[in-house]
Amino acid sequence: MASQTRARTTTFPGAHRSAAKTAGHWLLASVGKKVLRPGGRETTHWLLDRIGIPGRTVVEFAPGLGITAREILARDPRRYVGVDSDAQAVKTVSAILPAGDHQVIEASAEHTGLTAGCADAVLGEAMLTMHTDRRKLEIMREAARLLRPGGVYAVHEMGLTPDDLSPETKDEIRKALARSIRVNARPLTIPEWVALADEAGFQVTDTYCTSMSLLDPRRVIADEGVLGTVRIIGNVLRRPEVRRRVLAMRRVFTTHRDHLLGVGIILTRTAD
Ligand SMILES: C[S@@+](CC[C@H](N)C(=O)[O-])C[C@H]1O[C@@H](n2cnc3c(N)ncnc32)[C@H](O)[C@@H]1O
Repeated sequence: MASQTRARTTTFPGAHRSAAKTAGHWLLASVGKKVLRPGGRETTHWLLDRIGIPGRTVVEFAPGLGITAREILARDPRRYVGVDSDAQAVKTVSAILPAGDHQVIEASAEHTGLTAGCADAVLGEAMLTMHTDRRKLEIMREAARLLRPGGVYAVHEMGLTPDDLSPETKDEIRKALARSIRVNARPLTIPEWVALADEAGFQVTDTYCTSMSLLDPRRVIADEGVLGTVRIIGNVLRRPEVRRRVLAMRRVFTTHRDHLLGVGIILTRTAD
């Protein structure tokens, strides 16, 4: 029994931490949730359809469990490079790479060590939001450095709405998110995302907004399928501490649903 438990709980990143302390995304991964981004698969597909993958070099920041990596690889890139700061994530995604010029490296997205101008497209989902605005900018600048001129950076993150949301409400939402997901999540309004992108050397080409419904039944079924959803519910019900955490996260998302968004943004690298 003990070895079964170990087998089940060591296959996802963050498994070494207790359910009370682990970051919300790894907690959800531990119960079988695969899609860990605010705008769900619909936003991922919207982005993938716009970055021109076949025959190109694609760098993915923070592939996590490798769900989007699989979709990128299925679209036949010339080269795929994943960059994740979590060693277990690197192992997980490396295991799904097909033969070819593909790799996953353990590095921070702000200092990848990859060659300047090596990428036609960079994609990053659910990773900028968890950093300070200064770190967000560093990561976006690294994306700009990696891209050839005219290359695109596809971003999938958490947004705030409306654009003139008061600083007090933003602060309240950020604190509630940090308390429940145990990550210092700092979502931004669309103009705030655009301003950072501009500072990093990008022009916004297109944006997509949807609800932040990560834990809404309809979105979970759309992202995970019916069987996957049943499995997730069963796992949550079996683990009381996980159940408490998931319900607390869901409460925060529901309380602030009018102000939270899943956002997809296509950025084009401007010439130097
Ligand atoms: C919420 S998960 C998202 C995973 C995946 N992109 C998805 O949407 O399902 C966050 C991921 O970002 C990675 N990460 C966070 N900050 C990072 C950074 N500065 N550089 C590289 N990876 C980072 C974490 O290790 C984790 O795999």
